Amino acid sequence: MRTTISVIKADVGSIGGHTMPSARMLDSVRHDVADAIDQGLIVDGFVCHTGDDICMIMSHRRGKGDADIHRFAWDAFLGATAIAKTYGLYGAGQDLLVDAPSGNLRGAGPGVAELEFDLLEAKHRQAESFMVLAADKCGPGAYNLPLFLAFADPMYCAGLMLPQMIKGFRFRIIDMDNVAGDSIIELDAPEDAYHIAALLRDNERFGIDAIISRGFGEQAAAVSAQRLHSIAGKYTGKDDPVALIRNQGIFPAPEELLSPFVKAHYVGGDARGSHVMPLMPVAVNTAVTGAYCLPIVSCLGFSMEGSGHFTDAHTDFFANPAWDEVRRRAQQKAIEMRSQGWSGAAMLPYSELEYGGFRDTVGGLVKRFQIEAGGGGGPEPTPTTVHVRQS
Ligand code: 13P
Ligand code: MG
Ligand code: MG
Repeated sequence: MRTTISVIKADVGSIGGHTMPSARMLDSVRHDVADAIDQGLIVDGFVCHTGDDICMIMSHRRGKGDADIHRFAWDAFLGATAIAKTYGLYGAGQDLLVDAPSGNLRGAGPGVAELEFDLLEAKHRQAESFMVLAADKCGPGAYNLPLFLAFADPMYCAGLMLPQMIKGFRFRIIDMDNVAGDSIIELDAPEDAYHIAALLRDNERFGIDAIISRGFGEQAAAVSAQRLHSIAGKYTGKDDPVALIRNQGIFPAPEELLSPFVKAHYVGGDARGSHVMPLMPVAVNTAVTGAYCLPIVSCLGFSMEGSGHFTDAHTDFFANPAWDEVRRRAQQKAIEMRSQGWSGAAMLPYSELEYGGFRDTVGGLVKRFQIEAGGGGGPEPTPTTVHVRQS
């Protein structure tokens, strides 16, 4: 049966600063999800949080981008926003960027990742298992490196050498600077691996939108790659992307998918969305309360039975003690980077800094520069002619 998994997450308010949503907010969204199951809108649903972002994971039969599903998620976030406002929580409704979304929530603020497939019908897919990655205090391309390594590099995923994966994977990559619409290029690994890397190295501009098995034509992964500040025209918090990944069989196994996260690689985000800090894997429902916040990522695993139910039980991958060592390394890397303060690589370049904050400070100062007498000609510097990123 054609089945869709929709993962929709948003920051609509948090306690004591940008740490985590309140229990009342989560209860409200869980209550809405239970109602939606009763009314038959969705088959199953699960609600959790990563840092200050509430994540709704839902299965249904309505396909990707369905207006009713997206409106339902929006209304659930509005309900949680009202609670956040009542209790004076920080950033109430932060990620709800438009007054009313026109059907699809992509571009309206919440992160959306969706996969649609024939559930348990294909010979090559007799069990359906999937993982949900949710990151907080992170730029949109936080998954670029780990997903490239998992789906295109046998050093991380030896399974790529198996017959069911040896044809490789197709990467759909989105240019997030193009706000006219979803601007996509499709490139095939392994042949195009260097071209894929050439794009994915720029985590702020290019992001993985989807990954598809070339051997079977089945979609393996969907990522909510978009740039909130490009869409909103102003800084509205970090993108905090979610990813939905099917695993096992014709796709990489969980350990192959997660092995690149051992790096705790540096990503854009962290405090005021303007720093470069390591991505720390954490258990689901972790608050952001560490020193200098730290970008975090959680990972849940689910299995799905024939009717589309999946919440009977779940696995919290990063809760395993094996990840304690990675967390320590991430914290060490963070301390090293923080010892550099505001200098150079420790903060994002001018073009990626928090809109309306650091940029205003620098822009105001740039206007005060003056060419000294006898110092030569040339155009007057403006904020946009200083420090523009070379693309
Ligand atoms: P959020 O997007 O998680 O609200 O974080 C934004 C920020 O600026 C953190 O300092
Ligand atoms: Mg927030
Ligand atoms: Mg957040």
